[in-house]
Amino acid sequence: MEEVQPGIYLSRDKLFTENARPGEKVYGEALVREDGVEYRRWVENRSKVGAAVKKGMDIGLRPDCNVLYLGAASGTTISHFSDILTEGVIVGVEYSDSVIRGLVELAEERDNIAPVLGNARNPEEYEEYLDKYDYVFQDISQRDQPEIFVKNVKKYLKDDGIGLLAVKARSISDSRPAEEIFEEVKEKVSEELSIVGEVDLAPFEKDHVVLKIRP
Ligand SMILES: C[S@@+](CC[C@H](N)C(=O)[O-])C[C@H]1O[C@@H](n2cnc3c(N)ncnc32)[C@H](O)[C@@H]1O
Repeated sequence: MEEVQPGIYLSRDKLFTENARPGEKVYGEALVREDGVEYRRWVENRSKVGAAVKKGMDIGLRPDCNVLYLGAASGTTISHFSDILTEGVIVGVEYSDSVIRGLVELAEERDNIAPVLGNARNPEEYEEYLDKYDYVFQDISQRDQPEIFVKNVKKYLKDDGIGLLAVKARSISDSRPAEEIFEEVKEKVSEELSIVGEVDLAPFEKDHVVLKIRP
């Protein structure tokens, strides 16, 4: 295993994180042992952050980051953040009460995950958790995804923090060219934040980019 970014490993062209709960899978991923350590396969087709790492983005996540994660779903990607954040916590916001059940179960087994039933459009709904975060990630399929991200970053990201925004062109328009949609999103985001990285997720996801920002 080669550590390619903090807590993220590559072996035979596949990504892994060190399993914080040895013996337990989260979404059917493979478990691999090497030199007495168990790793979980991080499947790029199931995780936009995994795809971004595979496509070469330095995501800037450190083991001591406290993370605000918007669009937590049942915790597929969060489970890998949980492996990486040996000293940090993840507050995972999800607005579907059926989808969040998987995340609640995951949080029962992993101490660094706090599931929050809330709407990312209303950042004041999760004020009771942390005041500020080192890292904000958003993956929600909404037409106003850039506006939601900017609002959360401005409220919650530390001045020296990092944000990642997964942009799904097809939730903004079914018919317009993806490139045009990405340009529009970048324009909106860069009015308020600095875009410091960008990666197209093809072939893992079609019509998706991930933007990396600084406040
Ligand atoms: C593509 S899935 C996220 C997958 C997850 N990031 C992963 O990789 O494991 C998007 C999720 O965002 C949630 N969502 C959409 N709009 C939201 C909002 N306004 N606030 C919170 N969650 C939202 C959806 O219910 C869905 O579960």
